[in-house]
Order: sequence, then structure tokens, then C-alpha cells
Amino acid sequence: METATVSATTAGAPTGPTGAPAVEIRGLVKTFGQQPVLQGVDLTVRRGQIVALLGRNGAGKTTLISVLATLLRADGGTARVDGHDVRTDPDAVRRVIALTGQFAAVDDRLTGRENLQMIAELVGWSRRDARATALAALERFGLSGAAHRRAATYSGGMRRRLDLAAGLMSEPAVLMLDEPTTGLDTVSRRVVWQHVRELAAAGTTVFLTTQYLEEADQLADRIAVLEGGRIVAEGTASQLKAQVGTDVVELRDGDDRLVRELASDGTAADVRALLEAAASDGLTDVRVSIRRPSLDDVFLRLSGQAPESRGAELPDPR
Ligand SMILES: Nc1ncnc2c1ncn2[C@@H]1O[C@H](COP(=O)(O)OP(=O)(O)OP(=O)(O)O)[C@@H](O)[C@H]1O
Ligand SMILES: [Mg+2]
Repeated sequence: METATVSATTAGAPTGPTGAPAVEIRGLVKTFGQQPVLQGVDLTVRRGQIVALLGRNGAGKTTLISVLATLLRADGGTARVDGHDVRTDPDAVRRVIALTGQFAAVDDRLTGRENLQMIAELVGWSRRDARATALAALERFGLSGAAHRRAATYSGGMRRRLDLAAGLMSEPAVLMLDEPTTGLDTVSRRVVWQHVRELAAAGTTVFLTTQYLEEADQLADRIAVLEGGRIVAEGTASQLKAQVGTDVVELRDGDDRLVRELASDGTAADVRALLEAAASDGLTDVRVSIRRPSLDDVFLRLSGQAPESRGAELPDPR
């Protein structure tokens, strides 16, 4: 999907009907040809929250965010953003959101500064303030040195940062970010996280998709997992981890390679029994460690991806 940076708010406060959730999705359905992608998505995002939508490639994350951003029409169900129906009142929705897409939407012919200044003017800054705002954003995203180069000469990561700087410029009521940090290095990723946190603290609701479980863990107040066209889990990172419910016993060989992962209740008796069972399978010369379940465990289980793909086994909790 090619998405433009949609941003039409003048820097300012959220506006929707009082008390409406930032995002309210009910029974949303979207089919491409014969392929059902969204099959009854229900999700509510409260104001001021950062919510991460997780799902494997092709799960429908971009499709869902495109419906919310009024770039795509659903076939059934309803979605409201800041109280406005995406189908019947798309203009109102566009006024309260900003969207940064999975694919950068910068204008190659303009310099970094010109790209951002243009957006800043669009969202209502005077020309002089727009220029200062653009320069500050470039500084913040580590692009000062490239401010006066055409975007066509930017690296992939630089384009991504420029696109994010543009998307984060308008202080919208609801900010939608489709894989905001894909392809960014660790430092840039942290700059983006920090900026998103500050926006949320100032009252912006953030709905983002991500492939990075760490990103969801670090950044999101709540996490929703999209799988099989539906939201199959929703909650805080700790709530989701608690769903897996078990500690994980890791057995490693002399080269520190993981040879087996086993679910355990963490009691000495259980761990002893597991080690005896492993020993009878020939796993005697192993190093043992116990860890809490990670978001990875949650995600792999919920998205039906076999733990074997990690070269280890994680049996069902008993
Ligand atoms: N315009 C379209 N026409 C036909 N099929 C589409 C279209 N857009 C998406 N699809 C299909 O819908 C499914 C969901 O795509 P979508 O881009 O929403 O997934 P995603 O979760 O964003 O994946 P990724 O993690 O790779 O970004 C995919 O099978 C995709 O091929
Ligand atoms: Mg996508």
C-alpha cells in the first residue's frame, strides 16, 4: 500500500464527541477477492493509550490501519475514530488523525527541510514557525546534516526517519503508525519510542503496528494480537505473558546452544521431574536456566506458529 502522510490537524486538542473511545472497531470485515483478511475484528482503544497491533506477515495489520485511516473501505462492521464513523464521516476522521505508512511517503524532489516545512505549513504553522519547527524535527531525528539534501539521496533509514518526523509533526488526536521502526537502527528506534511516549503523555492516542515484540513490550500500554482475521488476544504485556502461564526451563549444551525449552510451574519438584525426564532422553550434560515467559512465547503460541521453528519445544502447560 502506498500511503501518503495524512495530516490535517492544526496543532491542538482532541475534538471528538466527549467520552468516545479514540478507536472503536466492531465486527470489521474486509475481503480481497476470495481472500477474507479481516473476519470480525473487535477492538477498543481508549484515549491517551499506546496500543500495539501485533500479527505475522499478511495478518491484515496494514489493511486494518488503512480502514481506520479511511484509505480503504471495509465490507462490513463499523469503525469509529475519535467518535467519527470512518464510512459516513471520513473527512472528520482525517481531521483528527495522522498516519505514517509502512512505506515512506516523502517527496524525493524536496530536501529534508522542505519536506517537513511543507507539512508544518499544511498543519497550520506560519511560514517562519514552520521552518523553525522543521529544523527542530530534523535535529531531533538526527537529520540536521542532511537537511539541505534532496530526499532522493537519503538512505532507507534516513527516509524512514524523515517520514516519521513528518507524521509526528501535527500533534493529532490519534496517531497511526504502520511499522514505524522497521529498518531503523537501535539508536533511531529509541528516538522514535521517546517521541511517541512524549506525544502520548501529552494526550495523543497512538495505534501502531509492529513486527518487534520488544517494541510492543517497551512502548505499548496494551497489545492486541491479530490472527486469522480476528483479535485473538488483548491486554497489557504482563497480562498476555500471564496467559502463557508457565515459566520456561531452558537446557543448553556445552556450546551454550539451546537444546530444549520446557514449560514448568517453576517449583523445585516440577523442575526436578523435568530434568529427570530430559535425562532419560539422553540430555544429561546440560546447563539449566529458568526464565519467565516472554512476549515471544505469547506471540508464537497465539499466532499458531510452531515453537519448533526456534529449534526447541515448548509443550502445552499441564
Ligand atoms: N489491495 C489488495 N489487494 C489484494 N490483496 C491484498 C491487498 N492488500 C492486502 N492484500 C492481502 O491481504 C492480506 C493482508 O495484508 P496486509 O498488508 O494487511 O498484512 P500485514 O499484516 O500488514 O502484513 P506485513 O506484516 O507483511 O506488513 C495479505 O494476504 C495481502 O496479500
Ligand atoms: Mg503491513
